[in-house]
Amino acid sequence: MIDPFGRKISYVRVSVTDRCDLRCVYCMSENMVFKPKPELLSFDELERLCTTFVKLGIRKIRLTGGEPLVRHGIMGLIDRLGGLVKSGQLDELTLTTNGTQLVRHAEALAKAGIRRINVSIDTLDTQRFAAVTRGGKLDRVLAGIEAAKAAGIHVKVNTVALRGVNEDEIGDLVAWCGSQGHDLALIETMPLGEIADDRADQYVSLATIRRSLERRFALRDIDYRTGGPARYAEVIGTGTRLGFITPMSHNFCEACNRVRVTCTGTMYMCLGQEDAVDLRAPLRASEGDDLLESAILKGIARKPKGHEFVIERYAPAAVRRHMSVTGG
Ligand code: 5AD
Ligand code: SF4
Repeated sequence: MIDPFGRKISYVRVSVTDRCDLRCVYCMSENMVFKPKPELLSFDELERLCTTFVKLGIRKIRLTGGEPLVRHGIMGLIDRLGGLVKSGQLDELTLTTNGTQLVRHAEALAKAGIRRINVSIDTLDTQRFAAVTRGGKLDRVLAGIEAAKAAGIHVKVNTVALRGVNEDEIGDLVAWCGSQGHDLALIETMPLGEIADDRADQYVSLATIRRSLERRFALRDIDYRTGGPARYAEVIGTGTRLGFITPMSHNFCEACNRVRVTCTGTMYMCLGQEDAVDLRAPLRASEGDDLLESAILKGIARKPKGHEFVIERYAPAAVRRHMSVTGG
């Protein structure tokens, strides 16, 4: 699948639920209204959706949410999709998770064929963690990460850089990831959905963060790519790969290779644009996948050039939906 700007689309991120057991301040408002269950794609529909994408040339699938591991029965889907990796139809199946359920699921994830996961941690301070996530328990997430590591799953930590919240702690996170053998990706906060705080207060540019990191660590830019927008540097001495995801301060769209599907089967061709194609109706309209295939292709043919994010005081969110709807 090639989009109008010549980009090859080989990666789909599928949100399996918009629900989450945490309420990160930059992601959600305190009282979120979630989708009613019947609107969600069933596991069978999710599997059909994924296999159809694979048939059309997708090589990598990431399951996201909300928090994917809070959906009951999710391991069954992961097992079946893992089969696509084992049979060579898919290069990679992976997961973005907040880590709260990993102790329970790490081994099964590894058995299903998951080799890498992204775990979100914005701070290593228990109290701060509880504040940022509105009640999350850091210990539980750290135990989850340990369990993943013990099961042989490589962990990349995702950290959203937040001014006045964890800005002073990014260096410690880099050091911790170094000591634990995790990679780390730093992310600029994006204006997705309404939240309680003003995003202009939360935003800090990663260029600023990098300058302060360089006072403590020697960083060397490297070519390492995971097919995403992150640009990587190596932390000399620990070998940690440190990714910078800069949607706000740098254009990161020119090499975009992905589309996203929400838990209700809406395909968004860009995280930062409203245009979307419904895949649920074609999924439910017939048992065959022809309608679904043509809906997917119709969407790819409309993939926009990029997002138009700006973070400004009083500016409305760039798009009305939260990250937990589109899928992280
Ligand atoms: N801006 C940037 N990152 C966000 N995430 C959730 N909401 C936002 C936002 N508005 C992050 C989560 C997770 C990843 C999938 O996206 O912290 O690490
Ligand atoms: Fe949940 Fe992830 Fe959003 Fe935090 S960022 S509320 S863990 S979906």
